[in-house]
Amino acid sequence: MKTILVLNGPNLNLLGQREPAQYGSTTLQDVEAMCVEAGKRLGVAVKCLQSNHEGVLIDAIHEAGRGVKAGSVLGVVMNPGAYTHTSIALFDAIKGAEVPLIEIHISNVHARESFRHHSYISAAAAGIVVGFGVDGYVLAIEGLVRKFHKS
Ligand code: DQA
Repeated sequence: MKTILVLNGPNLNLLGQREPAQYGSTTLQDVEAMCVEAGKRLGVAVKCLQSNHEGVLIDAIHEAGRGVKAGSVLGVVMNPGAYTHTSIALFDAIKGAEVPLIEIHISNVHARESFRHHSYISAAAAGIVVGFGVDGYVLAIEGLVRKFHKS
């Protein structure tokens, strides 16, 4: 069974308590449980990781890339948080690791402040899910499976 890595970036550990009007009241633990459930339904294993540190996220993308090459990993679903708007290093990591990655944002970043309108990640992503709340994680997993899983 192939594995999907669900990667969450900075401040997403605060989901549920952080700006609930923007991000809802579901906790990260609940989101991760939803992802594991979606994986079961779709026949993939789901592994989850959250970090507030750019280098940890980069290392996880590199490892996922090695897994893709070895045939054990299908790809990555990632909410890069604010690194979306700042991190050329994450763009380079996704490109360098050649890992299929779906970018997900809980909120509709395009309807918010202008500094959230540009993503360094999108040009390296295989697909983007924006503005569906935490359901977006499940939609992103489903999209990754539909696009890349050969059964
Ligand atoms: C976010 C949107 C980003 O702009 C923000 O910095 C986040 C969360 C989202 O899921 O809507 O941390 O990625």
